[in-house]
Amino acid sequence: MTSTGNATQVTTCRVCGGQDWQPVVSFGDLPLADSFLEPSDSYDAEPRYPLGVICCRSCRLMSLTHVVDPEVLYRTYPYTTSDSEMMTKHMQRVVEICGDRFGVTAGSFVVEIGSNTGSQLKAFQKAGIRTLGIDPALNIVEVARRRGVETLPDFFSVETAASVKEKYGAPRLILGRHVFAHIDDISGVVEGVRSMLDPDGLFAIEVPYVVDMLQRNEFDTIYHEHLSYFGVGTLATLFERHGLKIVDVERLPVHGGSILVFAGLADGTWATRPIVEELIAGERAFGLDKDGTYEQFALNFASIKEELVSLIRGLRADGKRIVGYGAPAKGNTLLNACGLGLDDLEFCSDTTEFKQGKVLPGTHIPVRAPSEVAVDEVDYYLLLAWNYSEEILKKEQAFLAKGGRFILPNPTPSVVPSQA
Ligand code: TYD
Ligand code: ZN
Repeated sequence: MTSTGNATQVTTCRVCGGQDWQPVVSFGDLPLADSFLEPSDSYDAEPRYPLGVICCRSCRLMSLTHVVDPEVLYRTYPYTTSDSEMMTKHMQRVVEICGDRFGVTAGSFVVEIGSNTGSQLKAFQKAGIRTLGIDPALNIVEVARRRGVETLPDFFSVETAASVKEKYGAPRLILGRHVFAHIDDISGVVEGVRSMLDPDGLFAIEVPYVVDMLQRNEFDTIYHEHLSYFGVGTLATLFERHGLKIVDVERLPVHGGSILVFAGLADGTWATRPIVEELIAGERAFGLDKDGTYEQFALNFASIKEELVSLIRGLRADGKRIVGYGAPAKGNTLLNACGLGLDDLEFCSDTTEFKQGKVLPGTHIPVRAPSEVAVDEVDYYLLLAWNYSEEILKKEQAFLAKGGRFILPNPTPSVVPSQA
């Protein structure tokens, strides 16, 4: 590993130990996607780190080229789980799946790694389930505790696992929702998890599905926090190396397409459902094991960039006013990787209070509260929060009805026409 500042170059695959990497795409040096800034006269001190992806030719893990020090990324983490309608429903569904398929019901004990403000654990609590959260972000742990979700302010490790098991007993379920892709030492986490599991215990992780990302050209989901992009086959390799096996997978629509993967001890209670082999066969058919699939992804990024930039600049030349809808982390990759900036988008509107009044990392585009956006200020919204497109388009009927339009960046740039 070589280090530049607080970023370390990846040389060894965190799943299989391989070192034969296919370079996929590089976006250059970018600021952290969740590092919103106070408006300032000078942004010279804004830290930037290399952002790009490579693919392990042995196990086909897609990984970032560089890992930013987690102490820099997570100790005061601004990200809070969205309490959107879609997310609330999704979390409820996770509780149901765990209950229906694996008997995680009233009286069970559930531990969540990366529990954030505790929204998922709250949903478990409503079903009478005992919960414990573990999250390293001190500011966020405070919020969770105030909501009545007991949370340990820590990174998860073999040591944390041992002390939790001793104090609280073995959990029926250890859950990591959209956290596993953020962790460099995944072997350490899986080892810690294994040490806590009884034969009927389960480890469930929810990660963005690499097949969905590649198929729908979701290149903007690549940012410094997302170290790994997983398929089921790669996860099966990882778990096998640590005495676990995948027993079930559910595909889910959140975050551009995700998978909820359940693993148990290799010699544990749970039988493997046929869906696991079906998905692995589907990944082979899609070409996850071939260099060409990743080469195509890089080509698709280049053409989306060109199309999106020319669409937006064309509209600007016609005097149209374009505003970003949402200021998600992925939006910052999209704008910075495509070279879009203040000349293209006047501002972004976002419902998250702490982002309002700040400027986006890299582009320094200001963020405003939706309530402060006047109707005549926007001709086109660039839908940066496209993972909520259904909910947002429904909510913005009035904007569409008065002649407004939405630009969708993926799978290829398109315009949702006005309904005026
Ligand atoms: P999120 O889904 O958390 O994406 P990422 O992981 O890429 O940060 O971010 C969605 C953002 O969009 C969040 O800042 C809230 C914002 N948002 C709106 O402004 N309006 C909306 O109607 C919705 C659903 C989200
Ligand atoms: Zn590998």
